[in-house]
Amino acid sequence: MTEADLLPILYVPDTRLRAKAKPVQPADPRIPALAEKMLATMYKAPGIGLAAPQVGELLRLVVVDIRPGDKPEPIVMVNPEIIGASKELATREEGCLSLPNQFAEVTRPAVVKVRWTDLSGARQEREADGLLSACFQHELDHLDGVLFVDHLSALRRNMILRKLAKELKGQQRE
Ligand code: NI
Repeated sequence: MTEADLLPILYVPDTRLRAKAKPVQPADPRIPALAEKMLATMYKAPGIGLAAPQVGELLRLVVVDIRPGDKPEPIVMVNPEIIGASKELATREEGCLSLPNQFAEVTRPAVVKVRWTDLSGARQEREADGLLSACFQHELDHLDGVLFVDHLSALRRNMILRKLAKELKGQQRE
C-alpha cells in the first residue's frame, strides 16, 4: 500500500453521504481492490470502520477492524444486513471519519446479528455486542445515508453540524 492507494474521505454535508447505496453485484471485479483501498484508508485515518459511500462509491460495501494495530482483524462486508437486534439498548460514544473531531453518545440495540458476503463469495453471519455491535450498526447506517448524528436530538445534531462546518471552514483558510 502506498499513499496513492488512499482514497479521499467525504465530509458532511457532501450529498453522497445521504444517498442510498446500491447492492454490489455478484463477482463485481472492482470490489477486491476497492475493499483493499478502503482498509488502507481506514487504517491511515485512523478509524475502525469505513463504508463505501464515505469514499464516494455508492455501493453496499463496508470494512471494519475494531482492533487495528498489532493484531489487525479486517472484516470486509459485501451487501451486509442486520438480521436481528436485541431489545436491550447500549449507549457509547461514536465519531465518524466524515464528521472529523465530532463525538456524541449514541444509543442503539446492544446486540445485533449481521449477515454479509465476504470477498470469496461466502455467506457470513456474526452476532456482535459492545464496540463491534455499535461499529456494525454505524457502518451499515452509512449504506442508507444515515449518520450517527441522526440518532441524536435535533438540537444536539444541529450543534454538532454547526461546529463541524465552522471547523472545516477554518481548515480551508489555513
Ligand atoms: Ni461513520
